[in-house]
Amino acid sequence: TRAIRIAPSILSADFANFGAEIRAIEDQGADWVHVDVMDGHFVPNLTFGPQLCKAIRPHIRTVMDVHLMIAPVDPYIAAFADAGADYLSAHLEAGPHVHRTLQAIRAAGCKAGLALNPGTPVEAAAPLLDLVDLVCVMTVNPGFGGQSFIATQVAQVAKLRALIGDRPVLIEIDGGVTPDTAPLVAAAGADVLVAGSAVFKGGSVANPAPYGANIRAI
Ligand code: DX5
Ligand code: ZN
Repeated sequence: TRAIRIAPSILSADFANFGAEIRAIEDQGADWVHVDVMDGHFVPNLTFGPQLCKAIRPHIRTVMDVHLMIAPVDPYIAAFADAGADYLSAHLEAGPHVHRTLQAIRAAGCKAGLALNPGTPVEAAAPLLDLVDLVCVMTVNPGFGGQSFIATQVAQVAKLRALIGDRPVLIEIDGGVTPDTAPLVAAAGADVLVAGSAVFKGGSVANPAPYGANIRAI
């Protein structure tokens, strides 16, 4: 049986307290910490860049999972690697030379992730599966937390699981993960579940117990 890892997205954390928020979610059982980097160009929202990643890195005891929603990617790979990203994921839709991007991520010393928008068939990942350590299947259109899960992506997860075969590639799900939707993607073959609003709702640094209850409910 697969162990499902929960990766809270700090997009839903208190932006003035990232260090304390990260300690709180890890104390409450988070397996990874998911960091959503948005550029206002590839997606219609702006978040943070490599300097913020570097600043929070010493507060992360688990795994720093950086999701780049930026285009272009290649000019920024070195900075995110230097910031200490364990997994660095780039979108297939972010540029014309995704092979080069994935090779550059590994050459920079990170584990390489390939993220796919909901409109991209998972078959597009097939030629790239030997170049990646993780495929992130978006179950919302990236850009914002708190959106609704796109249920047609469950079948795509199952297809991707079959395409991966016995390769050591993790399937990550990102967007709209809740206690209702998590079992669907887990059954379809997911390994890592990103969850933002569903983890952080009802809690705070001063009252972190709801984070733990929320993680266990997923
Ligand atoms: C969406 C981000 C997600 C997002 C998930 O663009 O990539 O990681 O924060 O948030 P929820 O879990 O609230 O859908
Ligand atoms: Zn994300």
